[in-house]
Amino acid sequence: MKTEITYLGHIIRVDSGTIEVEVSNDIPSAAPIINGRLYKIGQIGTFIKIPIGNITIYGIVSSVSNTPSKSDEINLKYTFGSRFLTVQLVGEKIGEDDFEKGIGTYPTINDEVHLVIEKDLFDIYGKKDSGSIEIGKHSSSENLSVYADLHKLVLRHCAILGSTGSGKSNTTVSILKAILGDYQGSRVILVDPHGEYPSAFPNARVFKINNAANPLFIPFWLMNFDELAYFLVGAKPTDDQKPDYRLFRELVTNFKKDNCTLKAGNVNPNFVTADSPIPFSARKLWHDMNWWLNGTFSSSNKDDQTKATAQEVNNGDCENLVPAQFTPYPTNNTAPYKSKHQEFYSYEKKILSRLKDSRYDFLFNPGDYKDANSPKDLHNLLNEWIGSNSKLAILDLSGVPFEVLDITVGLITRFIYDSMFWGRHEAYTGKNRPLLLAYEEAHSYLNKGDNTSYSKDAVEKVFKEGRKFGLGALVISQRPSEISETILAQVGTFIALRLTNSGDQSIVKNSAPDNLNSLIDLLPSLRTGEAIIVGEAIKIPSRVRIKLNVPRPTSDDPKLVEKWLESHPENEENYKVVVTRIRQQKI
Ligand SMILES: Nc1ncnc2c1ncn2[C@@H]1O[C@H](COP(=O)(O)OP(=O)(O)OP(=O)(O)O)[C@@H](O)[C@H]1O
Ligand SMILES: [Mg+2]
Repeated sequence: MKTEITYLGHIIRVDSGTIEVEVSNDIPSAAPIINGRLYKIGQIGTFIKIPIGNITIYGIVSSVSNTPSKSDEINLKYTFGSRFLTVQLVGEKIGEDDFEKGIGTYPTINDEVHLVIEKDLFDIYGKKDSGSIEIGKHSSSENLSVYADLHKLVLRHCAILGSTGSGKSNTTVSILKAILGDYQGSRVILVDPHGEYPSAFPNARVFKINNAANPLFIPFWLMNFDELAYFLVGAKPTDDQKPDYRLFRELVTNFKKDNCTLKAGNVNPNFVTADSPIPFSARKLWHDMNWWLNGTFSSSNKDDQTKATAQEVNNGDCENLVPAQFTPYPTNNTAPYKSKHQEFYSYEKKILSRLKDSRYDFLFNPGDYKDANSPKDLHNLLNEWIGSNSKLAILDLSGVPFEVLDITVGLITRFIYDSMFWGRHEAYTGKNRPLLLAYEEAHSYLNKGDNTSYSKDAVEKVFKEGRKFGLGALVISQRPSEISETILAQVGTFIALRLTNSGDQSIVKNSAPDNLNSLIDLLPSLRTGEAIIVGEAIKIPSRVRIKLNVPRPTSDDPKLVEKWLESHPENEENYKVVVTRIRQQKI
């Protein structure tokens, strides 16, 4: 065996999963050419193999040195010119069986170590089987495809991490294309905060805020009561001892109980709470509050100030936010009397300003989903997003005001989660038709420092529980150090592109499931579109090149130089449109 051209050296130390190899001084060259290919001995990140009978153990070179790692072993035995490799063992192949991760038989001192040549790599990576997708090509060989186990990639969750411009969006497109192309029943929802993916997937269903052709609506009544109270009037759950908060809860509950005859099926009012996702009119809510605040009554006694004693002149128009009118009260304390129902004094104005702000129309004025009388209900929304003939739905959130991005992602996630949970035994969803939720720019809303993040709570739940009823998640981020630790701890497969920030690198190092720091150390030096993939979905941790996709996602940087070279004549009219848009908050 020592005469074989692949012979590299022998083992001088075995330390659980790590071994040390003394490279033989007799090997003919530091870079032998085998079957026409050049192999560099001791390249960090390359594989070696240790044949023991019919078992072959594989490892990855993690460091190279001219002294052994334990200094007390430096003695005359090692002559000038000796080379030592530290190798992390990753898996083994028994006879003709497939390569398996993990080590059952450990090598020992003096076992022979060999170079891994291209043929061995084909043995390790195997062929594409029915449950896998091709992620890219191995960095060391254009011909060697690297496959991922689709089940584990999706249901054990995965993360695509890398500095800006390292190729995350392109990698996302590669993976989603491989899934959608090979699996006709697959389904994916892509949360796209910058609207960059529609161009890459011309056949996807795209829903976009404020877009007339394919509007994205997320009805506000999907919010639970605490979210609604926080969002409409800035109240916190800790306010629940205050009488106005409790009255508000009661009011919302009653509105919901009144609307139990629904298009998706009737609901028993006894089961309805302020948190139930049941439509009601936000405009009517405001109109009611305004009515009680500004009403005048024939009685001055609060208990007698009722609908019956009200001195209403006309009822206004709640759809157009016109308040009811009442006979004015005189100043001399005679009838009609001013309203004593002032509980919602501070809420009413806040709600009105929310309803008038057109940026929030996708929540408070959600087209066909507006209220219980509207033509559509939540089953239509699910059908549109994840119904049978749509494999990919892109939720383009580029028009969402920054301060509502969090709650928007939270509502989408919780709604999908609930639909998978309560549909878990149905033939058309849940376990019988799993779903992948992909979150682009995840650090901007799944931030670990943010204690009151609705999206983080909802997404963490998907990562912790989703697998059981067919819900998998993918997070894409340039700042892994800012992402919730609960989420990263549940990620089964890491696709790490070039990462230059050392804080981000150490997050990947600490979260990655395999103990492969040597590969992770390569992160800052990866080329664009090159990734280290570690974790459950991949047979062996690998350095992979991902192909550049056409058509591409749009990450539209302005053409600064061209634009600054142009001349721009003065025109007083120019900014009128811009100012009007600022005022109306509408394009
Ligand atoms: N696999 C690849 N091969 C060659 N070039 C690539 C590859 N992937 C990406 N690129 C180049 O890098 C650019 C940035 O890629 P991409 O938009 O995917 O990066 P990103 O990590 O998503 O960046 P950002 O953080 O800005 O979203 C692309 O416009 C493309 O030119
Ligand atoms: Mg990107």
